[in-house]
Amino acid sequence: MLFHSSSPSRQGRALVASVLMGLAVVCQAGAQPAPIIADTLLMQPVRADKAMVVTQEAQASRIGLDVLKKGGNAVDAAVAVGFALAVTLPRAGNLGGGGFMLIHRAKDKDSVAVDYRETAPSSAKRDMFLDEQGNADPKKSRDSGLAVGVPGTVAGLELAYKTYGSGKVSWAELIAPAIALARDGVVVADDLADSLPQAQKRLAAYPSSAKIFLKSDLSAPRAGDRLIQSDLAQTLDLIARFGAAGFYQGGVAEKISQAVQSQGGGMTLADVAGYQAKLRKPVTGTYRGLSVVSMPPPSSGGVHVIEILNMLEALPREAAAAPTAQNLHLFTEAMKIAYADRSEYLGDPDFVKVPVAALTSKRYAAERAKTIDPDKARLSKDIKPGPLAPYESDQTTHFSILDEDGNAVANTYTLNFSYGLGMVAEGTGVMLNNELDDFAAKTGVPNGFGLVGGDANAPAAGKRPLSSMSPTLVLDQGKVMMVTGSPGGSRIISTVLNVMTHVIDEKMGVMEAVSAPRIHHQWLPDELRVERGLSPDTIRLLEAKGHKVVVGASSGSAHTIVVTARGIEGAADMRQRGTLAVGY
Ligand code: GLY
Repeated sequence: MLFHSSSPSRQGRALVASVLMGLAVVCQAGAQPAPIIADTLLMQPVRADKAMVVTQEAQASRIGLDVLKKGGNAVDAAVAVGFALAVTLPRAGNLGGGGFMLIHRAKDKDSVAVDYRETAPSSAKRDMFLDEQGNADPKKSRDSGLAVGVPGTVAGLELAYKTYGSGKVSWAELIAPAIALARDGVVVADDLADSLPQAQKRLAAYPSSAKIFLKSDLSAPRAGDRLIQSDLAQTLDLIARFGAAGFYQGGVAEKISQAVQSQGGGMTLADVAGYQAKLRKPVTGTYRGLSVVSMPPPSSGGVHVIEILNMLEALPREAAAAPTAQNLHLFTEAMKIAYADRSEYLGDPDFVKVPVAALTSKRYAAERAKTIDPDKARLSKDIKPGPLAPYESDQTTHFSILDEDGNAVANTYTLNFSYGLGMVAEGTGVMLNNELDDFAAKTGVPNGFGLVGGDANAPAAGKRPLSSMSPTLVLDQGKVMMVTGSPGGSRIISTVLNVMTHVIDEKMGVMEAVSAPRIHHQWLPDELRVERGLSPDTIRLLEAKGHKVVVGASSGSAHTIVVTARGIEGAADMRQRGTLAVGY
């Protein structure tokens, strides 16, 4: 048990402070963070002149800002934030998972995608998640060693740093704050305090996790307790000293493969040592005269963000300063089409041919848009419906960074479920992912997010499971105008589109756009999920068109930056506690 309780009064003060800081703070160079008045917070962005960092967790945001102030660029700051979140947001920030980083380089006027998605180990087979009767077995794909993909995060951060870092801040300097936080401990507050009780059962199943994340009686820690992660500090120290080799070779790699094998997985030391992050060409499109740059396969995110935007452009949307029922209807019908395409065409481009150009073409979208009835919802009944997609808390995490030179990073990474498999590889502090559930265990059988797929996304040795993560940039005349992305599993794509259309079509300020109630339809199950807060009139109008509207809990956590004539505006999504936008 590595928790140390603080006194109640200290807890109280910490809570008030974290609530104020977690809402929104602007840092002027050299000045103390100044909390903004609480009752204006919901709609007010943080504004800055030069640079901005927006993440899910306040300490990580400040660490990123410090790197920028030292002269590091957006990529340097992203590396520091990525390592810091592995300590301060252990349910989603990670060393043991994977993700995607989209980078825009202002001077070179180009964008690049770093793919550090986990890979299936060499023992993976098409039927690895089936039971003896040939049925998909979610226990295998979500709760066993078979679910664990070879982690990509450390390789991805190193590749980004070596290729696109400024060279002004050393690798070790970028990792040092994370090491200190792991070694000295972080106070359990906000997101951490909310997430640990929810994950208690899964963490308690593994002594290696329980001894770090739970108290000795296996109860979840309380706000104000301190979480110390000594093994993680040592692993981070090895990475600081030896680069990614400190993780993918030697003791850490051995312990990761042993932990996976102890739970029935087949990951070998050679699988871990063989992991490679990749540079990919982003998918690109246009929307209302702006350029959209997003994540290519093995994420489905960028393809479908662009496909849906193309359909919206082709549809007769009403001009309005707020989402109208008619516009939401058209958006919903476009989402259904794109998610249906997703189940058929998308997979790891190193294994299957993904028709990216066709899916993102204006012509294809125009044809598909013609099939949309402006008055009536179409049923999604052609494929056997799956069980309702769980409306879970958000398990992934996204951050957005813009530096003084106009370089930007949109990064989304994940362990898949909250705390991934729930298992720390003994002696490493590394929480293991259960990402391989993102494969289609069997054609047409939904995964943990209710998403269906087929052969294109079938498991195979060395293959990356299909993702929905959609780190996205919008450029105006070649300059970054928006940096966004979100967690939320299948709802990532729709969350990003909700925010983008609010800013671009309805001209909302970024905080308003990020706070506005979101809608989501993923084709199967055939229901339109809306967040609380959407007007009852709008819901009635949507129901009158035939939509089955389900009002659910919050969706996504879209930390977003928009560049305006007023300055750089950052919005930390308030759907979870502890988020922070900081700028200077
Ligand atoms: N694990 C969720 C995603 O990558 O889409």
